Amino acid sequence: MKGLILSGGKGTRLRPLTFTRAKQLMPIANKPVLFRVIEAIRDAGITEIGIVIGDTGEEIRQAVGPGDRWGVNVTYIPQSAPLGLAHAVKISQDFLGDERFVMFLGDNVIQGGISPLIRQFAGSNWNSQIVLTEVDEPQHYGVAELDEHQRIKRLVEKPRVPPSNLALVGIYMFDHNIFTAVNAIRPSWRNELEITDAIQWLVEHDYQVHPYIHRGWWIDTGKSSDMLAANDRVLAEIGYGVYGYVDRDSQVDHLVLVEAGAEIINSTVRGPSVIGEHSRIVNSYVGPFTSIYHHTVIENSEIEHSIVLDNSRIRDVPGRIQDSIIGREVEITHSPIKPKAYKLTLGDNSKVGLL
Ligand code: G1P
Repeated sequence: MKGLILSGGKGTRLRPLTFTRAKQLMPIANKPVLFRVIEAIRDAGITEIGIVIGDTGEEIRQAVGPGDRWGVNVTYIPQSAPLGLAHAVKISQDFLGDERFVMFLGDNVIQGGISPLIRQFAGSNWNSQIVLTEVDEPQHYGVAELDEHQRIKRLVEKPRVPPSNLALVGIYMFDHNIFTAVNAIRPSWRNELEITDAIQWLVEHDYQVHPYIHRGWWIDTGKSSDMLAANDRVLAEIGYGVYGYVDRDSQVDHLVLVEAGAEIINSTVRGPSVIGEHSRIVNSYVGPFTSIYHHTVIENSEIEHSIVLDNSRIRDVPGRIQDSIIGREVEITHSPIKPKAYKLTLGDNSKVGLL
């Protein structure tokens, strides 16, 4: 079996963070979402992985490399324009050949334990397996309607009136018959070749599409609130431990991962949280559900339920920072200089909530 990861897309809803970084490389609990996807596929015993890339392809290639770090071989498949998930399958045919494959969206985060499902498909005679989960707003997703025997009756992409609350999660398994389907369908109203339409084509032509209902959590990290939600979920599941330095005046919960080279000085860190490599927390409070990435400094400040990326500086901030995503090389400080005013240098599409 092979793996196919879709990692194109501009991440417009995550701006300004995605002006300078591919959304799939945004770290969740200090590990890029895309790396988590690679690990899930590798854990199913798959070693040949294709990654479909778009405008941010160069950055993805640089971050992932040839795949040896995970013991896999990565092939990059450039997509000229974001013409849909089924289009991505179409252009990957040379790479996939006749093998069964699993396709993952590179910005989706799912609760662990999906690997046995992929192995199960490898040994089955189904033509496809799709993963469904109950969601609150099915109109934003591909939606499945099942019959009384839990078989698929119909699949529709972003229906105005959803036939159920079962959304298609961004994990799909196929055999080579999917190529006939993607060549048979027409572009949708958004001018994309929809994978949902291709699977519906399989259903209509009596191919066996098996629905699996996922009961755990699943988050499509499209918006910043989704990033924080995914961070909460993953932080609750990581391995904790202190690999950096914690001084005697600090209190660090047992649900905290202090990465190598990190320093906690005269501070309190409550878990679940992660303090990244070579970051320094000095005279500060880091509350639960916080991920501080690499080479960042938090000094004389309080932060909780937030993500801070690399090489940022947060110093002498008077109030508590909460529910925030702070990008790379950001500086937040308190200035004693009069006039007493907010002095902001914010990139396009920034969002700030002031007191
Ligand atoms: C895509 C699929 C949709 C699926 C969703 C999962 O939507 O078209 O069927 O439910 O991913 O994240 P898109 O992100 O392209 O709007």
